[in-house]
Amino acid sequence: MTKQSLNDLAIFGGQPASETQLHVGRPNIGNRQQLLARINDLLDRRWFTNNGPYVHEFESRLSELLGVKHCIAVCNATIGLAITIRALGMTGEVITPSFTFIATAHALQWQEITPVFCDIDPQTHNLDPRCVAALITPRTTGILATHVWGRPCAIEPLIEIAQHHNLKLMFDAAHAFGCSYAGHMIGNFGEAEVFSFHATKFFNTFEGGAVTTNSDELAAKIRLMTNFGFSGYDRVIYLGVNGKMSEPAAAMGLTGLECLDEFVAVNRRHYKRYEEALADVPGVRMIQYEEAERNNYQYVVLEIDETATHITRDLISSALHAENVLARRYFYPGCHRMEPYRSYFPHAGLLLPETEKLCQRVLSLPTGTGVEAQDVDLICDLIRFVIEHGAEVSQKISSLTGAG
Ligand SMILES: Cc1ncc(COP(=O)(O)O)c(C=O)c1O
Repeated sequence: MTKQSLNDLAIFGGQPASETQLHVGRPNIGNRQQLLARINDLLDRRWFTNNGPYVHEFESRLSELLGVKHCIAVCNATIGLAITIRALGMTGEVITPSFTFIATAHALQWQEITPVFCDIDPQTHNLDPRCVAALITPRTTGILATHVWGRPCAIEPLIEIAQHHNLKLMFDAAHAFGCSYAGHMIGNFGEAEVFSFHATKFFNTFEGGAVTTNSDELAAKIRLMTNFGFSGYDRVIYLGVNGKMSEPAAAMGLTGLECLDEFVAVNRRHYKRYEEALADVPGVRMIQYEEAERNNYQYVVLEIDETATHITRDLISSALHAENVLARRYFYPGCHRMEPYRSYFPHAGLLLPETEKLCQRVLSLPTGTGVEAQDVDLICDLIRFVIEHGAEVSQKISSLTGAG
C-alpha cells in the first residue's frame, strides 16, 4: 500500500493507485478461438438471425441448464420484459420495486401501465411482500419483482399474494442467471422470468436476454411476439415486435456457457477476498449470499454506514474514482426519482423509506475476470485507508470543492 498520508490520495494530487481503470461489470469473455470458429461458421452459412441454428442450440442449452421447459432468446432483457408483460395481459397498475434498474419500470410505462413503486426489505434489498400487499388496488393486475444482485426475492410470499389477489407474477431476473432458490434454478418461478445477457452481466451475449417459463401457452405466445407476431408466412396473430436474438449473439452465448463455471469461480474468489479484507472495517457491510444455493457472485456490494465511516458513500466513491477504481452507486437515486416517474409521482419517496436510505448507502466494487487478486487487495487497502481517515478526507474534499 503506497498511501502514507492524505496527500498521497489521488483526489488530493497523489499518483492513482491503479494504472489502469478497474471497472464494475467489465465483460467476461469465453474461449476466443471457439467464438471466432462459430463466427466463421455463421458467416459461411449466411444465416445471421431469424431463429438460426445457434439461437436454437443456445435456447436448448439454457433450458437444460435451468431445468425449465421453455426458453426464448431475445435481443435484450428490456424487450423481453415488455413482451412478457404484454403476453401476460398486464394492464392498469403493476407493483414493482423502485430499487431496480430503470428498464424494469420503463418496460411497464412504455405500454402505459403504471409502475406502482414498492419499498424493499433492507436486509435483502428485494421487494418487501408486506408492502406489496398494502399497495394492491382494484386496478392492480400484476407484480414484477427483481432478484436484485441475483439474490432471489421472497418468492413464496409473493406467490401467495399473487394467488390470493389473482395477480400475474413475473420476475426481472436480469442479475440472477446461474442462481438458485430452494435448490431450483432461477428461471422457474412465477409465470415467467427474464434474464439479461448484457455485456456487463455475469454472462453475456454482447447484448441479449432470455425469457423462461414452464407454461406451453405463454411460451408459444412470447415466441411469436418476439418475431412481430408472425405465426407463419404472411400471417400475424399478435401485436409483436422485433425482439429476436441474432446468431453472433447466440455464438457468444454458447461460447460463454462453456466457461460459466470459471466465471463463477473467479467471482467467488474475488468475493471471498473482499469479504476477508473488509471484515473489520467499521461502517462497511458486504451483502451476503446464501452459500447453500447457487450464486453467480457478480455483485460485490458494500453498504456504507456513514455514522461509522464519518465519510459519505459518495465521497468514498469519488476518492476511489480518482485512484482509477470505478466503484458504482447502484440504482441511485431510485426509479421514483427519475423521469418520467418523478413528475408523475412527486411524493412516491414518502412510501419508500428503505429504498431512499439504501440508495445512499450502496457501493458496488469491481470484480469478474477483468480484475486480478492484487486489484482486489489494492481496492480493499484504499477503502480501509479512506475510512480510517474518513472525517479528515471528508473535510479536505469539502474545503477543496468549497462544499459546506
Ligand atoms: C435489474 C435489471 N433489469 C433490466 C435490465 C435491462 O437489461 P438489458 O440491458 O438486457 O435490456 C438490467 C440491466 O441492464 C437490469 O439490471
